[in-house]
Amino acid sequence: MTAEVYLNGEFVSPEQAMVPVLDRGFLFGDGVYEVIPAYGGCLFRLEQHLDRLDRSLAGIRLANPLGREAWRAMLAELLRRNGGGDGSVYLQVTRGAAPRDHVFPSPGRPTVVAQVSPLAAPAAEGVAAITARDIRWELCHIKAITLLPNALLRQQAREAGAYEAILERGGVVTEGAASNVFVVRGDEVATPPRGPGLLAGITRDLVMELLQAAGRPCREREVGVAELAGADEIWLTSSTREIMPVIRLDDRPVGAGVAGPRWREMHGIYQAYKADVTRWCGRPA
Ligand code: PDD
Repeated sequence: MTAEVYLNGEFVSPEQAMVPVLDRGFLFGDGVYEVIPAYGGCLFRLEQHLDRLDRSLAGIRLANPLGREAWRAMLAELLRRNGGGDGSVYLQVTRGAAPRDHVFPSPGRPTVVAQVSPLAAPAAEGVAAITARDIRWELCHIKAITLLPNALLRQQAREAGAYEAILERGGVVTEGAASNVFVVRGDEVATPPRGPGLLAGITRDLVMELLQAAGRPCREREVGVAELAGADEIWLTSSTREIMPVIRLDDRPVGAGVAGPRWREMHGIYQAYKADVTRWCGRPA
């Protein structure tokens, strides 16, 4: 349960956190966001999330309203006020309130909001997914709050009895509606390369880093949607759900139809890494 949220420099109860109806986030979806997991009161991969926030803000031509140290201090305080422990921190920066006009206001005053919610348990038993056409815009590397296509696609998945929609554009896999995609076949683990067609997921990059360190580098390459049917394993990654094995795709089993051995190995490496950084965080150097 959220105890306090952050809004424009203050910590207040969710009921007190009011944003004007003229906020451009509300009117135009004109803003960007991050979702950062916290384990044992420690923000996981915080610097990487804040780097991506910088890139997203640059992508929508909005100056970062807070410096790096102010972000760190505010998020740590927010977590503390919400009892520390495990949680999912959501932060959002919009271009703020202004008379409705598509053109940017000048001067503008951005709105900054952050809140903590419980972290859902990772789906270790595996999830079902569907494939769907990627109906989003051409700047998916920006973590924009404009998520109507993603919401429609995840709803489509839900109505098909699945958790996620794996998206394809012109026969090529981009990512999930709210996750990145890895495909395992034989010895190869592959994931689509970074670019404007997909979000450079923090979990995706960490999984690649950990695979590299384990001496089994992941290939960044174009993945055809037709390849999915012949995959031994498919994984979805996101900050809140870690690494999820896909065990059914479009109502057919993926590989043996259960979480596979490569996923189990990767999951173990990921959990060990998490435990390690969480153990050391917050201790004086
Ligand atoms: N979504 N791609 C999309 C479109 C996403 O929305 C997300 C995460 C990812 C994975 O990125 P990361 O590993 O940095 O979480 C990829 C978040 C969790 C959300 O919108 O709630």
